[in-house]
Amino acid sequence: MSAIFERRNALTGDINIPGDKSVSHRALILGALSDGDTVIRHCLKAQDCLDTMNCLNHLGVSFEDKEDAIIVHGQGMHGLKEPPHVLDVGNSGTTIRLLSGILAAQNFVSEISGDNSILRRPVDQVIAPLLSMGANISYKFKNNCPPLVILPSEIKGITYKGSFASSQVKSSILFCGLYADSETTIIEPYQSRDHTELLLKAFGATLLESDEKIIMKPADKLNAIDLSIPGDISSAAYFITAALITEDSKITLRGVGMNPTRNGFIDVILAMGADVEIVNAHYGLEPVADVIVSSSKLHGITLEGEIIPRALDEIPILMVLACYAEGVTVIKDAGELKIKENDRLDVTIDNLTKMGANIAKVNDSIVIEGGHPLHGAIIGTKYDHRIAMSFAIASLAASGKTEIIGSECVNTSYPGFYETLRSLFPKN
Ligand code: S3P
Repeated sequence: MSAIFERRNALTGDINIPGDKSVSHRALILGALSDGDTVIRHCLKAQDCLDTMNCLNHLGVSFEDKEDAIIVHGQGMHGLKEPPHVLDVGNSGTTIRLLSGILAAQNFVSEISGDNSILRRPVDQVIAPLLSMGANISYKFKNNCPPLVILPSEIKGITYKGSFASSQVKSSILFCGLYADSETTIIEPYQSRDHTELLLKAFGATLLESDEKIIMKPADKLNAIDLSIPGDISSAAYFITAALITEDSKITLRGVGMNPTRNGFIDVILAMGADVEIVNAHYGLEPVADVIVSSSKLHGITLEGEIIPRALDEIPILMVLACYAEGVTVIKDAGELKIKENDRLDVTIDNLTKMGANIAKVNDSIVIEGGHPLHGAIIGTKYDHRIAMSFAIASLAASGKTEIIGSECVNTSYPGFYETLRSLFPKN
């Protein structure tokens, strides 16, 4: 399928943002390991999370899909069952990384795999620390990529000092550490998103956190909870950018997650000069607020260091935004994007170049000279949801038509994306 977009202005509207993908995955998994029924309100029902549910279902966990919540019938920490066949994560890198940590500690054999993109994405960053915890995991084709074959083993606590910040690596170690013989310590160079730590504590695990490390004690059991998932800031970022780069726009986004380890995108756009207000802040498990954003004159900045893990999935849309800002934007330290659903740096650079952007890779940095008009183009998404959404937005301030090839890949994280975007267009 393809979708066609062209220049628009005067976007208006008031939209609700679907549940956070990272938090939804974790709540589903921890609910499955808990005693009792976990109620997850505003859970994201996009393909990636459905794939997590499907894997858990093959491990003996059942779900009820109510209108306003997913109910997870928890099996307890030791209640998962040997899956009848290979677990299939589809396109979801988060599912395979997080579940590996849990499967490593079960007393049954499992094999876990996914689609063609998953078969090409190395997982050694996650598997290496699990191996040092005593896990018995092998790569079926000896290539650092899935499928993974996981055999039972005794898990021991470790101290893991990461050379880069990754929430998926951290979370997989923590999940495995629940079953360890002693405590697990994690030290990261910069803090990655802390949804796992917040949820583990809410489900009853014991974690001690300081600026430089996390220490988690093994758990005997987890207790079911009732929670509401915040709106996904990564999804909100597309609409916020749409309002910033189009003329005479003003939109409101409701219920956006504002976890400080995750909302680097907001800090970046404020530093670029965005007209954005954060209102109605309220606190549940995580902070949530409404965002009011208007068309803005932006200027380029340099992004590097601790801001990168806090805005990791937003780098493609920030590259689009930089093209519409005056002056030069430089993005450093974003090498982790090369092993996402695709090499997101190269795919974004290629497509922005097709649209006439002045963008280049200089050593390991991306340098974008903004302020040059963009024109429509045929966008190859490589079936990556974040690329499709970024370029649907880029087209709104470009001349001519832009065609997004494989546009349906947005279903990975945001099934209603195009409908919500079109709802902001002027009605005439
Ligand atoms: C995620 C963490 C990020 C992000 C990914 C989801 C998570 O990856 O890119 O889309 O849910 O933990 P890292 O593990 O590189 O931080």
